[in-house]
Amino acid sequence: MADLQAQIEELWDRRADLASGDHDAMAVVREAIDLLDRGEARVAEVDPATGEVVVHQWLKQAILLLFRLSAMETVEVGPYEYADKIPLKRGYQAAGVRVVPGASARWGSFLDRGVILMPSYVNIGARVGANSMVDTWATVGSCAQIGENVHLSGGVGIGGVLEPPQAAPVIIEDDVMIGSRCMVVEGARVGRGAFLGAGAILARSIPVIDAETGEELSRGVVPPWCVAIQASRPRAFAGGEFGLPCILVIKRLPEGERHDKAALNDVLRAHGVSA
Ligand SMILES: CC(C)(COP(=O)(O)OP(=O)(O)OC[C@H]1O[C@@H](n2cnc3c(N)ncnc32)[C@H](O)[C@@H]1OP(=O)(O)O)[C@@H](O)C(=O)NCCC(=O)NCCS
Repeated sequence: MADLQAQIEELWDRRADLASGDHDAMAVVREAIDLLDRGEARVAEVDPATGEVVVHQWLKQAILLLFRLSAMETVEVGPYEYADKIPLKRGYQAAGVRVVPGASARWGSFLDRGVILMPSYVNIGARVGANSMVDTWATVGSCAQIGENVHLSGGVGIGGVLEPPQAAPVIIEDDVMIGSRCMVVEGARVGRGAFLGAGAILARSIPVIDAETGEELSRGVVPPWCVAIQASRPRAFAGGEFGLPCILVIKRLPEGERHDKAALNDVLRAHGVSA
């Protein structure tokens, strides 16, 4: 893989000279995207030793090169017509993934076994862990990393990040429940087993506050095993005091125990019903 990384980095350095139709460059880029597509490489991961997010920049560079090297193509499906540069993912049944009509995932995203895609969208470089559910109208942005047994409820927007290549993507850890219509963007992170209440907006600049102590725990990082909801905090400006959004941690959950409302969703999912 080190050799492939070096080749991508070399292409990246001379990207200004590359154009679609360069078959040699495309063959190298395709190899890298295939690794992402099969889940053998990932754009970012949490280092188990430090808990920090490690971004593998060269894989993001490969995705950006793919856009540069690909030409637009018209694709027709029945009465639908599309014009794009990147094909869709294939081979769902062999991969043990259920994909409901209306859902799309791009080549170069990875869906692990047991994933269910309701009519939703998964962009290139994103990764969805085993047995996770991407519910109706949820979107998983480019390079976002979703763990195992996660539920992204209806309409959830998980932000994508391609540029700059070193920017960390959104990380949703295992066993997380993201409530309906939440938006998690800009390299924000939700810790294992957390429940983010419906309608929350989590970005890197949003304070996450502990309701018990009033302490600001982080900006953009929800701790593991807790329930966190959208709230507001007073903020003084020259023009007066205004309420700015924050995320409030209202409950801590015993480690390893998901919130009972997430458990209900597990039951529904086991019976093939979307919540
Ligand atoms: C966050 C959530 C899990 C809280 O459930 P809970 O632990 O049972 O907590 P409660 O319902 O007792 O709510 C605690 C407090 O938070 C408030 N609250 C609950 N959910 C909230 C939300 N999403 N945003 C803002 N405030 C919320 C409640 O009004 C309540 O305030 P109170 O103490 O003054 O009465 C739940 O309300 C939620 O958002 N579930 C997501 C549902 C969803 O999107 N499902 C997807 C499939 S339909």
